[in-house]
Amino acid sequence: MKRLYIKTYGCQMNVYDSERMADVLRPLGYGMTDRPEEADLVVLNTCHIREKATEKVYSELGYIKQMKLDRAALGHQMTIAVAGCVAQAEGEEIMIRQPAVDLVVGPQAYHQLPELIARTHRARGERLSAAFAADEKFDALPAERHADGPTAFLTVQEGCDKFCTFCVVPYTRGGEYSRPMEAIEAEARSLAGKGVREVTLLGQNVNAFTGGLGTLARRLAKIPGLDRIRYTTSHPRDMDDDLIAAHAELPQLMPYLHLPVQSGSDRILKAMNRGHTAEHYVRLIEKVRAARPDIALSGDFIVGFPGERDSDFEATLNLVREVGYASAFTFKYSRRPGTPASAMPGQLPDEVADERLARLNDLLAEQQVAFNQTLVGRTVDVLFTKPGRNTGQIIGRSPYLQSVHIEAPESLIGQIAPVRIDSAARNSLAGSAVLEAA
Ligand code: SAH
Ligand code: SF4
Ligand code: F3S
Repeated sequence: MKRLYIKTYGCQMNVYDSERMADVLRPLGYGMTDRPEEADLVVLNTCHIREKATEKVYSELGYIKQMKLDRAALGHQMTIAVAGCVAQAEGEEIMIRQPAVDLVVGPQAYHQLPELIARTHRARGERLSAAFAADEKFDALPAERHADGPTAFLTVQEGCDKFCTFCVVPYTRGGEYSRPMEAIEAEARSLAGKGVREVTLLGQNVNAFTGGLGTLARRLAKIPGLDRIRYTTSHPRDMDDDLIAAHAELPQLMPYLHLPVQSGSDRILKAMNRGHTAEHYVRLIEKVRAARPDIALSGDFIVGFPGERDSDFEATLNLVREVGYASAFTFKYSRRPGTPASAMPGQLPDEVADERLARLNDLLAEQQVAFNQTLVGRTVDVLFTKPGRNTGQIIGRSPYLQSVHIEAPESLIGQIAPVRIDSAARNSLAGSAVLEAA
């Protein structure tokens, strides 16, 4: 058996892609290892979204290169592949900066990994594949999914046509592409057949899925054993009434919505090319809440966008106060080469952005704790996913995507059962009694 080590950076799309790379390589005799030093093939599945994400890849490549040399000294080979969004964005540049890299493969070309590896082994000829053909990739991937555990990701849409001025994704992932409904259903059935009870539909703009995400959710809700459906990430511009209606209709559609807004200032939203105003976003949230009153909201925020004034930042804080988030991801603006925002005047000093980030994080942390507290004393359905850190403890997920710890037997893993919540911290809930397994 050959050993494969994959390290994944970035978003859930990359997590999905890494699993699919393993699926492609399994028939070639590759089994997974979590020890890169003993791997025949090392894949770094990279992220380009912020400068730090990209730099991490190069420092990791430094370590991997040393492992490759150590293995060579013992007479073993190691092939190093860089996949993902840095591969797409930088291409062959990567091999100039780090010559130990054997091949570079973009997010739409990893189904060609077997061929690329064979080619690398034969000669060191063509080493780059970074085409943009999502349909070819999905057609070439094995129909069967390998599932471990009761939750899984399922990519339904890829790419982005929105071109927010700060963002590299339209350049690294290409234009919006939706998979055929039938292929997604087949993959979901295959997962459910392997014990998956919760599936998270993925896309850079998942609600831009051309078949209609509401329609897809209704079809997936009919699959026996698939009790929970989630989706991420949505764009406010694509949040249609049918999807909102599906939230009211389908108990399988979990009451959690990740809907990034980035800023609460219309001036900044315009400069970001988001295509919506703060008001439009707030009205949208009202509609979603009317359909599913208990829905937990999450979002992405960027502070320190070029030209952001104190008053713009205050508008973001006000929007956060008005909406009320159960969780959130906040980022300091990172200047990405080639994006329109990187050339805008008014780039802010780090200190200003740092201070704003800290204030925004404080507010969102308060809201997160407050939301978690609302569950104390209540009973919620928990899908048990894995053993906890302490023996006798298991971990599960609430409908609101909170992690729940409880003393209970491991035999419950893979099941959904009501749990009484006793206490809440910022990042998790603790439960006591499991009431009855469903
Ligand atoms: N398609 C998704 C998000 C993809 S990137 C969406 O539109 O919501 C995830 C998040 O990273 C974005 O929502 C944004 O908040 C953040 N991000 C993207 N580019 C960034 C940059 N240049 N600097 C800081 N944060 C950025
Ligand atoms: Fe990036 Fe905007 Fe597209 Fe999201 S919608 S991936 S932030 S360009
Ligand atoms: Fe990063 Fe690419 Fe995802 S840039 S956030 S891995 S789409």
